[in-house]
Formats: sequence, structure tokens, C-alpha cells
Amino acid sequence: MLKSRFSLFNYVLPVLLVFTLIAPVVASNHGETLTIYSGRSKSLVEPIIKQFQEATGIQVKANYGGTTQLAAALLTEGDKSPAALFWAQDAGALGAVSKKEMFEKLPESILTKVPSGFRDADGFWVATSGRARVLGYSPERVKMEELPHSIFDLTQPMWKGRVGWAPTNGSFQAFVTAMRVQVGEEKTAEWLRGMKANGAKKYTGNTPIIEALAAGEVDVGLPNHYYLLRFKKADSDFPVEQTFFKANDPGNLVNIAGVGVLKSTENKETALKFVEFLLSTKAQQYFTSDVFEYPVIEGVTQNENLLPLSELIQVAPVFNLNDMDDLDGTVKLLQKTEVL
Ligand SMILES: [Fe+2]
Repeated sequence: MLKSRFSLFNYVLPVLLVFTLIAPVVASNHGETLTIYSGRSKSLVEPIIKQFQEATGIQVKANYGGTTQLAAALLTEGDKSPAALFWAQDAGALGAVSKKEMFEKLPESILTKVPSGFRDADGFWVATSGRARVLGYSPERVKMEELPHSIFDLTQPMWKGRVGWAPTNGSFQAFVTAMRVQVGEEKTAEWLRGMKANGAKKYTGNTPIIEALAAGEVDVGLPNHYYLLRFKKADSDFPVEQTFFKANDPGNLVNIAGVGVLKSTENKETALKFVEFLLSTKAQQYFTSDVFEYPVIEGVTQNENLLPLSELIQVAPVFNLNDMDDLDGTVKLLQKTEVL
């Protein structure tokens, strides 16, 4: 008697009822696993993904790799790719995927969150942060009035043996690609030869350039903007400063990290939610506070050593960032001019 009372009405039906109520919730989250190809480093991306997962209940599977390699993988995989999103740290890689028409056009509501220089003109990708090339210098050895107005000035005799650069570095090579797009192959080759003839000193990356400036090995250098800010965070008296060249100079390249949604994904809505999250004040504040990159939306508190976004746009060279996709051509030019 007792047994039968528990068996159906008191036990099985309530369990079935509860399961019926819960099942759709479980199923909706279960179906939403978002696969991201991330050319941005795991240490940078993981906190953001965690916040997104907590806020939405959507599971994210990130596949980390070099930005160029992931772009190549996407081109090979085509519409069979498991990726819903490509988060790259270089505009050239986004351009390469975009030119193969593999990205879904993003909605206006997302595109208009950022200034026009920070999104693809055709709407296939959007920047998530900005990374600028700058002129680093020693304020002890270079007077303000001596600072060059253009990167082309660095081939002049007064800079002989005083400039540090990093020809094997990815950001340097992206800058050379942009210079080729902006001023052409010949003028770029001439600049590269001029720099070499003027005794530009080679370093393995951006951090060593900053260290060389502080150590007095060189007086000016060509790094990305955020490296010095890391040194300044540890020591506000660190004896190096940085500046931009005149407006629209190739030396002021503002490259981007950015994201595109793959046309082939079945998770478009979810992918767009992630893009929106990357452009939220919370995520943008994280990019600028933690890695000193430029936010791409207004209303974020920036590091005092960063220019306001509106001023950054004024100095940035103007050209189509999608055209920065010919890295091979840059490596060949660097070899031809014997810089590499
Ligand atoms: Fe970097």
C-alpha cells in the first residue's frame, strides 16, 4: 500500500514534472558552446571568457594559436571550420579571412559602437582594442625640438647608430606591411635600406628596445606603445618617453586586435553576444587597465600615458587595414633589402 503511494503519484510524477521544467534550460545552455579561434594570448583572454560565461551561462571553447597560423587554418578548413569567431591580434589576418568572404556581416548596432577607423569598411569585422606604433626616446639624450617629425627622418645622418628596431618582430613586420600599402613598395625599400645604412641597431623585440633606450645603447627606438607603460607601472621614473610622429605618418600605425563571426557557424546569435561583450565597458576597461591597449569605445578610464581615443584617430595613418594581409611580401622585402 505504502509502496504504491510513493511509486507513481508521489514520486515519479513530481520528478517528471521537475525534469520537464528544467530540461529546456539545460538544453538551451547545452546547445550553446561557442568555439573561438584566438590569436590573442590565453592569459589575456581567459579572464574575459570567464566573465562572459558567468554572465550568460554560455560555454566557450577557445582554440589558441598564432594569429597568422589561425587565419591560415580557417582558410584551409573553409565552411567545415568548428570556429564561430576569429579573434585576431592583427588587422592583416582579419583582412585575409575577410577577403575569402568567410565572415558574416556584423549588424549596425555592433559596428557603430566603434569609430569608423576601428571597423572593416564593409562591416565584416570590428576592432576590440588598438595597438599603436610609437617613437620611444631618451629624454636625457634627445631634446624635444630634435624629435623627428616623420619615421623617414630616421635615415638622416643625425640619427646614425642611434635608432633601435626589431626586424624579426611580428608587430614590426605588420608595420612594414602597412607602410608598403600606404607609401608603396619602392619608398618602403628605400627607407629600409636607409635605416640599415644608418646603422639601426637590431633587437629581438619591443621589450629589449625599451631596455636599450634606458641603458643608453640607443637614443630612439620603434616599439609598440604598451611596452613602455609596463615599465612605467613598475617605476614611474623609468627614463624613457614615447611620442607619435606627425599625423598620418606610417610610423604611427594603429593596428588593431579585432573579431569576426564566421559565416559557416550555426551559433551566430551567440557569437554576436560575445562580440557585444568584448565591446562592453567592462571588457574595454579590462583591455586598457590590464594591458594598456587603446579602448575602441568612449567612456572608459584610460591610463594617463595614453592619448584620448579622438586624438589617436587624428594621428593614425589612413588606409584600408584589410590590405595588411601580405606578410609574405614583407618578409621577402626585408630579405631583399638585407634587413633580415
Ligand atoms: Fe606585443
